[in-house]
Amino acid sequence: MGEMHLLLFVTIILLIRLSYQTENDECPHKCDCLEKYVDCTRKNLQSVPKIPMWVETLDLSYNKLNENITQSFERLTNLKVLKLEKNRLLAIPNLTQQSHLQEVTLSRNNITTIDADHFSANCSIKVLNINSNQIQRINEGALNNLTNLSILKLNKNEIRSLPNHLFMFQAALRTLELNHNKLHVINGLLFQGLQSLTTLKMRFNSIDNIMDGAFFGFKSMNLLQLDHNRIRSISKGWMYGLESLITLSLSNNLVAQIDVGSWELCTNLEVLDLSHNYLTEIEGRTFQHLINLRTLNLSGNNISSISQEAFSHMVRLQTLHLNNNKISWTVEDMSGPFSKLQNLVHFSLAANHIKSIHARAFEGLNNLVELNLAGNNITSIQQHAFASMTKLKKLHLNSTSLLCDCNLLWIVKWIRDKAEQRYITATCAYPSEVHGVSITKLKEENCGDSPKPKIVENPKTHLAIKGRSANLLCSATSNPFNNMTFLWRKNNGNMSNPVVYENITITTMGQPRATSVLTIPNVSHADSGKYQCVVTNNFGTTYSSKAKINIVTFPRFIKTPTNVTVKTGETVTLNCAATGDPPPEISWKKDGGNDFPAARERRMNVMPTDHLFFIVNAKTTDMGIYSCAAKNPAGTIIANATLTVLEEPSFIRVMENKEVTIGGSVVFQCMSSGSPKPVLKWLKDGATIIATERHYFTADDQLLIIVGAESKDAGTYECEITNELGTKKAMTELSVLPPVAILVNEKDMTGIIIITVVCCAVGTSIIWVVIIYHTRRRMANAVPTFPAETMKMTQIVHSDSDSPQMFPDNISERSSCKDSGTGDSAKQTSFDGVPTDRSDQVHFESAVCRSYSPVQEAHTLLPSSFKPTIQVCVNTSASPPTYSFSSHSGNNKLC
Ligand SMILES: *[C@@H]1O[C@H](CO)[C@@H](O)[C@H](O)[C@H]1NC(C)=O
Ligand SMILES: *[C@@H]1O[C@H](CO)[C@@H](O)[C@H](O)[C@H]1NC(C)=O
Ligand SMILES: *[C@@H]1O[C@H](CO)[C@@H](O)[C@H](O)[C@H]1NC(C)=O
Ligand SMILES: *[C@@H]1O[C@H](CO)[C@@H](O)[C@H](O)[C@H]1NC(C)=O
Ligand SMILES: *[C@@H]1O[C@H](CO)[C@@H](O)[C@H](O)[C@H]1NC(C)=O
Ligand SMILES: *[C@@H]1O[C@H](CO)[C@@H](O)[C@H](O)[C@H]1NC(C)=O
Ligand SMILES: *[C@@H]1O[C@H](CO)[C@@H](O)[C@H](O)[C@H]1NC(C)=O
Ligand SMILES: *[C@@H]1O[C@H](CO)[C@@H](O)[C@H](O)[C@H]1NC(C)=O
Ligand SMILES: *[C@@H]1O[C@H](CO)[C@@H](O)[C@H](O)[C@H]1NC(C)=O
Repeated sequence: MGEMHLLLFVTIILLIRLSYQTENDECPHKCDCLEKYVDCTRKNLQSVPKIPMWVETLDLSYNKLNENITQSFERLTNLKVLKLEKNRLLAIPNLTQQSHLQEVTLSRNNITTIDADHFSANCSIKVLNINSNQIQRINEGALNNLTNLSILKLNKNEIRSLPNHLFMFQAALRTLELNHNKLHVINGLLFQGLQSLTTLKMRFNSIDNIMDGAFFGFKSMNLLQLDHNRIRSISKGWMYGLESLITLSLSNNLVAQIDVGSWELCTNLEVLDLSHNYLTEIEGRTFQHLINLRTLNLSGNNISSISQEAFSHMVRLQTLHLNNNKISWTVEDMSGPFSKLQNLVHFSLAANHIKSIHARAFEGLNNLVELNLAGNNITSIQQHAFASMTKLKKLHLNSTSLLCDCNLLWIVKWIRDKAEQRYITATCAYPSEVHGVSITKLKEENCGDSPKPKIVENPKTHLAIKGRSANLLCSATSNPFNNMTFLWRKNNGNMSNPVVYENITITTMGQPRATSVLTIPNVSHADSGKYQCVVTNNFGTTYSSKAKINIVTFPRFIKTPTNVTVKTGETVTLNCAATGDPPPEISWKKDGGNDFPAARERRMNVMPTDHLFFIVNAKTTDMGIYSCAAKNPAGTIIANATLTVLEEPSFIRVMENKEVTIGGSVVFQCMSSGSPKPVLKWLKDGATIIATERHYFTADDQLLIIVGAESKDAGTYECEITNELGTKKAMTELSVLPPVAILVNEKDMTGIIIITVVCCAVGTSIIWVVIIYHTRRRMANAVPTFPAETMKMTQIVHSDSDSPQMFPDNISERSSCKDSGTGDSAKQTSFDGVPTDRSDQVHFESAVCRSYSPVQEAHTLLPSSFKPTIQVCVNTSASPPTYSFSSHSGNNKLC
């Protein structure tokens, strides 16, 4: 009985205690409490126990609670932190009553949507974690009451898209995490309203499309993570708003292209991670504007090409990762590609394709401490290659292919003096006696010839003609000889499928030599560029110098001049145009020379733009063959056109009536011009005159000479000139006078010599005509001696200031006179003492007579034994100049 009472008592006490606890908000018996913190984690709870009112932090994680727990919290007005991680919530619980709530963790539940009405106006929640749910959809406006939100975590959900304007009221949000969702597209202005956001994480989504302006309004954004998406290119369009971005990570995307100017708006960027993408080259403008960059990670791309200016503006860069790329020639062949990275401390080039190191590859890296070259099969390192890296301590080098010849021995000392040896595990592969020996233990002796390829003939720069084939030759040798492979590069990139012919020849010295000939069949403009051959054997790689091929095309006429015939005074147009690459230069020649009468007279005009060549007011002197030449470095082509100028026949001097004494001689002049040159015909009293013993024609029939005049010679003489444009006639009368005694010494005279000198001016040329006529009827056998006095000549007044030159000795030279344009200063002179007609005068219409016409006429008149050569001698030193004749016949000098 007493025991029963005792039990009852204890039960009552317990009940009282329980009710006391409840009434006094005691810590729930299943939970642990510490001050205002109530920990009910991992209690297998399916409903919420009675929670004391004073609770500020309530942790209900790892239970079996569903979303119908709202009532349990209604009284908890002091609640600040509520944790419901890993429960069975299918929706966000109704938290409209918890006006002091600041932090809510709902991660690892099965929430599928976020809709409106879960949060009251001006909801005080600052941190909301809904990671690891199955949220697929967030309704428009769902977050509108979360105006105090500072951190929102939505990682590991199923979100495919976000409604526009979702964040319009999250002006206080600083961190937004959306990692591991299924986002595809980031619309423009999607994040509008997040002006305080500093961190946005969207790693592991499927983003392949970031629209222009996607991040617009992110005035405070420092960190943007977009790793592990499907972004293919970077463009300026989506960079708007990222002015304050410090860190951007884009690793593990598909970025193959970075548009020029992409970084123009985020010049504050300090850390850029582009590792594990598909970049193949870094050009001078790839990272333009990133002047504040400290860390750049480009590992795990496909980079093989780095231009000289690629890093030239990144003076602040401290860490550069280029591991796991395909870099080779940047380090093997370039001079100072990294030279502007003066603040670089860590530089990784591990696992690339570097086989050798150029002496200037690392030039300028004055502050570099760590250089990772591990994972490259380096065979040779040129001397001084590390010279400018005075602070370098950690050199990672583990090649087992080193060619430990004399050229590498310098590094033994360098390693001993400068490097931390534990990073250097490289060993020699050659010569055989040191095979496998660590470079750090190498002795500085027994080194000999280099088996590395040595280029003995570099490809040569040249012009290639489009459509033809071009060859580039590259020869290399090594000692001892080792099979070589040739690689041809164009514009710093490897050529795909080049047409190459290779062979090995033995030189006269007995040294094998490998030659590769690159053939570019059917050259086109795309083939222009810089070519280089790269020769590799087991011991290393050698680069040839670069040969430039410029593509030229042979000039081709698109307009050619045609033969033209015009009348004097008309305008001549010659057309000539050609194409080619480079565009050919057009030049003109007349009769193979550069003397254009029309140019001298300013009648000629060349219009290069219209490819026209003009001659206005054509003259007969313009006649000739005009050649248009089109010339460029590929060659020259020429087109000819004949210009013919027609001129009506005309008389250039009036025929004068003449008188002659019987036995005397008379000369008729019929000076004509015209083009083609008129044909002359002489008539007497209407009948054609034929040449007789006494009738001679000379100077292309322009002179009719009658000697031993007889009375029947009197009459009307006509000169008829004819060319294609017509016929003209001129008439003159000849009167024959009775004979006059001639005062000559009959005894000494064996005959009469008539010398007629006529200088006819026809156009601009002057024809000298010298006629020697020997009239002795009964010719003696002996050669006559000329009576000196009969040869006395009067002076010839010369009109021109240009001193006439000596007449050339070659009397058969054609006459030609230079026109000095003094056409009106005609002077006349005549020979005295010789029976001549008054018309036998020398007439200078202009200046210089260089030669005179031949004297076949004289020859035909003289006996075969007397075939003189006549020279007209001009003494130009005399003033006025004097003229003399000399005649040679056999050994006899006649004057
Ligand atoms: C939560 O409550 C609603 C209505 O009161 C009910 O329909 C639903 O089945 C409940 N959910 C769970 C998991 O008990
Ligand atoms: C949340 O609770 C409040 C008050 O208890 C109620 O007025 C409101 O309708 C509830 N909201 C939802 C979505 O159930
Ligand atoms: C919650 O999601 C997990 C994982 O998808 C699933 O295994 C579990 O059955 C879901 N629970 C409920 C109550 O839907
Ligand atoms: C915001 O709160 C107000 C008042 O509590 C409520 O009427 C409204 O539905 C809420 N809006 C959202 C989107 O939750
Ligand atoms: C050199 O180092 C690279 C990376 O550090 C490693 O992958 C490679 O196996 C090493 N090579 C040798 C020969 O030790
Ligand atoms: C480097 O050399 C080793 C051994 O000679 C070879 O197996 C490996 O394929 C080479 N690596 C490259 C990138 O050439
Ligand atoms: C060099 O190459 C030729 C042709 O490919 C081959 O026949 C020869 O055996 C090679 N020599 C060496 C030393 O590899
Ligand atoms: C090898 O190539 C060079 C250059 O084309 C050529 O002159 C030579 O005749 C070739 N030798 C043989 C054996 O084919
Ligand atoms: C132009 O004239 C020249 C010489 O007179 C002649 O050889 C040529 O065939 C002519 N050309 C044409 C197109 O008639």
